[in-house]
Amino acid sequence: MASRSTSPGKIILFGEHAVVYGRPALAIPVTQVHADVEVSDSSRAGIWIQAPDVNLHAELNTLPSDHPIASVIHNFLFLWRVSPFPNLEIKISSTIPVASGLGSGAAVTVALTRALASHLDHPMTDEQVNAFAYEIEKLHHGTPSGIDNTVVTYAKPVYFIKGQPIEIFKVGAPFTIVIGDTGISAPTKESVGDVRKLWEADKTKWESVFDKVGRIANKAKEAIESDSTTLESDSLLSNTLGELMNENHALLQEMTVSSPELDRLVSAARNEGAMGAKLSGGGRGGNMIALVEPERAEEVSSALMAAGAKRTLITMVS
Ligand code: MEV
Repeated sequence: MASRSTSPGKIILFGEHAVVYGRPALAIPVTQVHADVEVSDSSRAGIWIQAPDVNLHAELNTLPSDHPIASVIHNFLFLWRVSPFPNLEIKISSTIPVASGLGSGAAVTVALTRALASHLDHPMTDEQVNAFAYEIEKLHHGTPSGIDNTVVTYAKPVYFIKGQPIEIFKVGAPFTIVIGDTGISAPTKESVGDVRKLWEADKTKWESVFDKVGRIANKAKEAIESDSTTLESDSLLSNTLGELMNENHALLQEMTVSSPELDRLVSAARNEGAMGAKLSGGGRGGNMIALVEPERAEEVSSALMAAGAKRTLITMVS
């Protein structure tokens, strides 16, 4: 019998990068894209991995131990002291674009961990899966905050502060986000490393920039959680949130993690009537997000494509 698990992608609404330095950030799962893993017993010896999206068809021991998929399996087997190694077929597929800020690495790690846990009969709580996935993120991403693995593990909107218990935030009134993909793959490790260099060179300056981002994330949480039932307060909420997105994007530009392509998409969304827009995730490439009135979503999406987006997604946050 096969064991299956699926994990969503994610976007960061507010607070990326500053979150690495202990400031709060908000992230939501994006279920339209997902990583899927199936683990079954194999009639051939070894642990065979098929991940056609990344052109991988290999036995575990032929992969370098720091390979992202191999490291999940090795660490899982080590954690649970699984010996001898079982014979397995592992199929991995994902519709989450790699290195795009949508959490593809964390989603594969979490889905793979859960499918292995279920198949090898080592039940894991969400807390255990999250802690394990964080260790894997640290192997590949330098100094991650842990927000990606957390939102992907719990598949809920999270208000995240590094090292603190997770807080799920509630959405008072649903809102619509258009996601635009630059199509440029940009490893988070690099942008996080570059921000660290800036911070090391002038801690006073950057701590104050991160403080500003943290205040934006807190104001955004308050706005999102507020219960607005009338049309008037809905648009008030959207304008506030949109403005906060624009402010957050300006601070990300200051951190040097935007790019001409991201800025072009952000401007295109604003020109088409989005209430606010910003890059989302590590930056330099990957994705941006725009807050829109639901009836403007298609137009904004078309404007993003015309401005060079490789693809767009419309997601409702509720
Ligand atoms: C990446 O999705 C978010 C960053 O803040 C890095 C991190 O929090 O680990 C850029």
